[in-house]
Amino acid sequence: MNNLSIPPVPPDWWRTLFDETYLQTDARSVLDPEQTRREVDAAIQALDLGPDEAILDLCGGQGRHALEMARRGYGRVLVLDFSLPLLSWGRAQARREGGAVAFVRGDARNLPFGGGSFQAVLCLANSFGYGATRGDDLRILEEACRLLPPGGRLFLEVADPGYVRAHLPPQTWHEAPGDLVVCRRRWLTPEHLVCRELVLSFQKGLVRDCVYQVRLYEPQDLEAHLKDAGFARVAVMPGREPGAAGERGALSRRLAVAAWKE
Ligand SMILES: C[S@@+](CC[C@H](N)C(=O)[O-])C[C@H]1O[C@@H](n2cnc3c(N)ncnc32)[C@H](O)[C@@H]1O
Repeated sequence: MNNLSIPPVPPDWWRTLFDETYLQTDARSVLDPEQTRREVDAAIQALDLGPDEAILDLCGGQGRHALEMARRGYGRVLVLDFSLPLLSWGRAQARREGGAVAFVRGDARNLPFGGGSFQAVLCLANSFGYGATRGDDLRILEEACRLLPPGGRLFLEVADPGYVRAHLPPQTWHEAPGDLVVCRRRWLTPEHLVCRELVLSFQKGLVRDCVYQVRLYEPQDLEAHLKDAGFARVAVMPGREPGAAGERGALSRRLAVAAWKE
């Protein structure tokens, strides 16, 4: 990858990107039930989650993990996300499945819950590192820590920076459901993976041209950030393969972290 011609990134790009088009462009990951089941397996195992625990699926999107947990008998899972289209998709799905998951809209930097409301917080599949500053990212971890009682725990998955820097192709395209073709051009900076995404519809032409970025955290940075946020013990599990076949962009390989509040 090279650093030429990196387009400007809107600071709050994440407020608008996650809509119905995203559910199509990323369907091979975020609408893949097998992959979701594997991700839930990993979270349950890492935190030894019990079905009666109050669990927050932070930046949980359309609630695919929470819904899968509800199917397994986890009855107190709540999804917090900013995206109205994803929340409404999730609420409709939850109604079809019996309504065991609650969905709340909010900003993860300022969570609308009291201290100690949850025994565990999940932040899955690269939903972290979008902040305009590192302080924004830290604020999310501080909020997650505030919601937990002593002994509460967090499971967080981010893009594996080693994989991204060494192996993520600078340009890819793939076909997506409907009649879409998704073209991605990527750049690396010392701090970020930047991506320009063009989405083309055979019927409608260009339906999306956007730029977004994710801050890449080395394992030791992530650990330091979690400790700054108030977590006492951090276990980093490097290079987890979610197991799906084929290239899945930055989701192909992840760092998973479990953290405990003292
Ligand atoms: C890549 S999606 C993944 C969603 C979900 N974790 C999954 O794996 O399907 C990232 C999600 O984080 C949410 N998000 C990002 N920053 C947020 C913030 N500051 N507050 C609330 N939600 C946020 C977005 O709306 C989006 O739904």
